[in-house]
Amino acid sequence: MTKHPKLELTWIGKENRPKLEPRILVEDPGKSYHAAHRVSENDIFDNRLIFGDNLLALKALEQEFTGTIKCIYIDPPFNTGQAFEHYDDGLEHSTWLAMMSDRLDLLHRLLAPEGVFFVHLDQEENHYMKVLLDELFNRFNFLGQVAYERSGVSGIGQGGAFLVNTHEYILCYAKDKARFHVEDDRGATPLEPKDMKRYNRVLIDPGERVEIERFLAPSTGEPVVIYKHRGEQIETISLRKVEDRFDEIIGEYVKCFPKIFRNTSIQKENEFQTRILSHCGDGLYSADYLVSRGKREGENITAYYWNRQVFAWLSDTAEVREGQIVKTNKLSDFWPHGDLPKADLANEGGVDFRRGKKPETLLKRLVGLVTKPGDWVLDSFAGSGSTGAVAHKMGRRWIMIELGEHCQTHIIPRMRKIIDGEDQGGVSKAVNWKGGGGFRYYKLGPSLIVKDEWDNPVINPEFNAGMLAEAMCKLEGFTFEPNSEVYWQQGRSSETDFIYVTTQMMTKEMLTKISDEVGPNRSLLICCGAYRADVTQFENLTVRKIPKAVLKKCEWGHDDYSLEIRNLPKSPQTAVPAEDGGGTQPPKRPARKFGRGKDTGPTLFDMDTINSTGGK
Ligand SMILES: C[S@@+](CC[C@H](N)C(=O)[O-])C[C@H]1O[C@@H](n2cnc3c(N)ncnc32)[C@H](O)[C@@H]1O
Repeated sequence: MTKHPKLELTWIGKENRPKLEPRILVEDPGKSYHAAHRVSENDIFDNRLIFGDNLLALKALEQEFTGTIKCIYIDPPFNTGQAFEHYDDGLEHSTWLAMMSDRLDLLHRLLAPEGVFFVHLDQEENHYMKVLLDELFNRFNFLGQVAYERSGVSGIGQGGAFLVNTHEYILCYAKDKARFHVEDDRGATPLEPKDMKRYNRVLIDPGERVEIERFLAPSTGEPVVIYKHRGEQIETISLRKVEDRFDEIIGEYVKCFPKIFRNTSIQKENEFQTRILSHCGDGLYSADYLVSRGKREGENITAYYWNRQVFAWLSDTAEVREGQIVKTNKLSDFWPHGDLPKADLANEGGVDFRRGKKPETLLKRLVGLVTKPGDWVLDSFAGSGSTGAVAHKMGRRWIMIELGEHCQTHIIPRMRKIIDGEDQGGVSKAVNWKGGGGFRYYKLGPSLIVKDEWDNPVINPEFNAGMLAEAMCKLEGFTFEPNSEVYWQQGRSSETDFIYVTTQMMTKEMLTKISDEVGPNRSLLICCGAYRADVTQFENLTVRKIPKAVLKKCEWGHDDYSLEIRNLPKSPQTAVPAEDGGGTQPPKRPARKFGRGKDTGPTLFDMDTINSTGGK
């Protein structure tokens, strides 16, 4: 039997996935910022701004944030071949896909089960991205594609273009469509007199009904049973002097809400409804049937018909909120220029980020659709910081990652102004922003393992004891949680399983003492520079030597996986022509980062190269 391969997008090097080092994030408190005082009870301070390549940064977040982020919005370089002022855009297609794909895998992992992913692109790569995301998220989880009108035709200089390109696209995916729900009121607006005039009939009592006809629905094969009603009571809500009596009339609407309807004609093409109506005359009729498609697919319902027209219930398009009736407007996937005003875009946030900055109104709509206050929002291509700016003003937690210098020159000043309540542009007025909260600024920690001058892998001397313990926790899947009273509890993987990291050499006496303290009901992983004992005698201990135990876990010392081609690692096969022109030489070894021959004397970390004598 032929095995059909699954549908997938493929490109050169698709299977070459980097084995990423889970770096620690190092806070720079001088760049972190918080408001001088609390503005409200709901102020959020644990937002994060990370400076660095997003692939390593996302990996660094993996342990703490897997399954946590409610909304991810990314607006990566569109790969249009244009060089923007602040960042490089224009990569060869398969390179772009490979770079995106590595990042998408991590983003998908971080997304909460109820979470939603948005990616903003233009026509260059949007369709390739769709296929990529169908594979990663599963086609079933595709929620839709927004066509966002970036600007009207006039004013766009695209002389000679076949079609003037005015649109960008936002692909929307649920992590799991079955668990996804819309949070937003979708721009709910109060019921107005013009809506009342359409919906003003109330089915007070449907009366008695008798079956008059039945047939099998072609789409479901299930019976459709049609009834004629007798003794029904239908009333009309009086809208006389509606402007003067508005509150009184709204009270009536709220009281009768579930029973209010209008009757509407059926389109001729709707064969199913036309067939039911062919059995109905004047007066009230109803039909019981199983719905075969649409929002109520699979439900058994009773549909009503009056004077040869079908009922449309007010409750299908509105709801009662705090004593008022609001229309729950349906949002289409076309978001026109006029709906999301951006006349002031250039000034938003007080930063100049030409051609990359997205309007705060757009972000507000996206964030509001799928999150509620306190939820985590992430943008790993932060640019000028629009996503974090909007998330902050809307009371959501945020994480932003940006590799460019504009992380310092744009995002930090923008967020500081917001926190200080000085940014009244963008969506500030719409959300009544008054300031407050804060963020922590992080950069990626250095690689844990470097080569010494004899080319031996050693623990990076930049690491202090705390950093080392945190890095080992990440590598071994423990949560870094140092216990100030119990020195060997530096992290945990469960209530009873701990990790202890030290560069010391562990002797039999030291291990015996720790093993006694751990006791029979707990277990401990010890990562140490060396050990001199038969460690198999300690049932509650697992003892490993570092760095040896971790060498194969990932790629060490690789600092830049950024989207810029000039930063890509050299191919391992790259051969350098010999100087005499005859043949080739092996590639030169990269310059070592840390020498150990400096006259600085031994440090805490010198212990890691002690060759254990009794260990494995
Ligand atoms: C289109 S801009 C985002 C604009 C943003 N939505 C806004 O409203 O300001 C794309 C951003 O992604 C950043 N970027 C590109 N590659 C990156 C990487 N590997 N890691 C982190 N940021 C990256 C660029 O520096 C640029 O700022």
